[in-house]
Amino acid sequence: MKQELLYEGKAKQIYSTANPDEVIIYYKDDATAGNGAKKAQFEDKGRLNSEISRMIYIDLMKNDIKTHLIKSVNEREQLCHKVDIILLEAIVRNIAAGSLVKRIGLEEGKKLNPPILEFCYKEDSFNDPLINDDHAVALGLATHEELDFIRGEMRKINDYLKALWLEVGIDLVDFKIEFGRMKDGTIVLADEISPDTCRLWDSKTGEKLDKDRFRQDMGGVIEAYEEIHRRLKDRT
Ligand code: TMP
Repeated sequence: MKQELLYEGKAKQIYSTANPDEVIIYYKDDATAGNGAKKAQFEDKGRLNSEISRMIYIDLMKNDIKTHLIKSVNEREQLCHKVDIILLEAIVRNIAAGSLVKRIGLEEGKKLNPPILEFCYKEDSFNDPLINDDHAVALGLATHEELDFIRGEMRKINDYLKALWLEVGIDLVDFKIEFGRMKDGTIVLADEISPDTCRLWDSKTGEKLDKDRFRQDMGGVIEAYEEIHRRLKDRT
């Protein structure tokens, strides 16, 4: 099924398939933080993230969110529509943490109601800077109408994800998603949703069950991903 390697990112590889409009996404075990400054490998992370992301995507698609996912090929690979990724990191924050705390001094753990929506320019050489709509339009990343659509999707996805995680005893602190354009211009959710791209705190204990365990050298990284995977799997 997999043919030529088209692109290799920090955590995934994209392969062509016999169909030019479809790709296979392979989830690697690599982890990076701080724009690649810190690197490690965690055995089984790719499989866990692929499965976690697939379960979440299926739920979102049942709720009428359009995504790039067609089906899983195996536990580490997904067949997806080929899209042009929009070079924006779309971030939704329900609780203050991470760069928000560092940037404007909100106390970690402060509830944000309504949630804060942010866009960062996906460009490593500038360290993925926070930008506004006018910047995104000036960069030719998207039109104002497309950004309004994306913001609507971010809010819908946040509502579904908050409820889904709460069902399995997790507070959704924040997350990053990406969007892509299909051949006909339709904008769909792309990339992964996993403990690599979300902050997930246990609702009862506040324990961090996400990539911050790697970023902050807390240990127990793969155990946390396994716990997230188990809770989602038990739900279905
Ligand atoms: P931040 O607090 O570091 O800006 O991160 C906000 C959320 O976005 C957090 O859940 C982690 C996620 N994220 C990524 O998935 N990739 C990235 O490159 C960055 C900076 C954040």
